[in-house]
Amino acid sequence: MASHRIVRFGNPILRIKAQPIQEISDELKKLADDMVETMIHGEGIGLAAPQISRSIAMFVIHMGLIEENGEPMAVINPEIIETKGEISYEEGCLCIPDIREEVKRPEIIHVKYMDIEGREHEEEFGGYKARVFQHEIDHLNGVLFVDRLGSMKRKLLQKQLKQIADEEMTILAQEEEE
Ligand code: NI
Repeated sequence: MASHRIVRFGNPILRIKAQPIQEISDELKKLADDMVETMIHGEGIGLAAPQISRSIAMFVIHMGLIEENGEPMAVINPEIIETKGEISYEEGCLCIPDIREEVKRPEIIHVKYMDIEGREHEEEFGGYKARVFQHEIDHLNGVLFVDRLGSMKRKLLQKQLKQIADEEMTILAQEEEE
């Protein structure tokens, strides 16, 4: 397994809609393993492929931190079919260091997705798992949790976000030179 660099707010790849996955290859399985390693290394509870510069519809979630006996798992081509209720939870993101804010989202979600063995799943759940799924599905659509904050809150964070973006652009320019 290998850990990948997690890109930061301001990197254009975070704003692109990820491509659906057509085939579960050995390469994809390796990427899922790498994403799990990167997530654990970054002390995250979820990580979407665009966060490591791969614009494909897959994310990993650290179920071991959500359910007893849970193992990290990969979620492929997820689709939210229905939502219920609304709840506020504090969120953070590995792409947006040092910022955590309350975000309102649906409380219960009904989702369809594929696992890394290609098995189809259809489930309904709430709690923290529903929250992580929604945050990661947002990533696959080019949406970040700060987009969901009120305009006042976003304004307060503007300077901090600009600083993260400026740093990311510097790193990106260095990567392109290499
Ligand atoms: Ni995130």
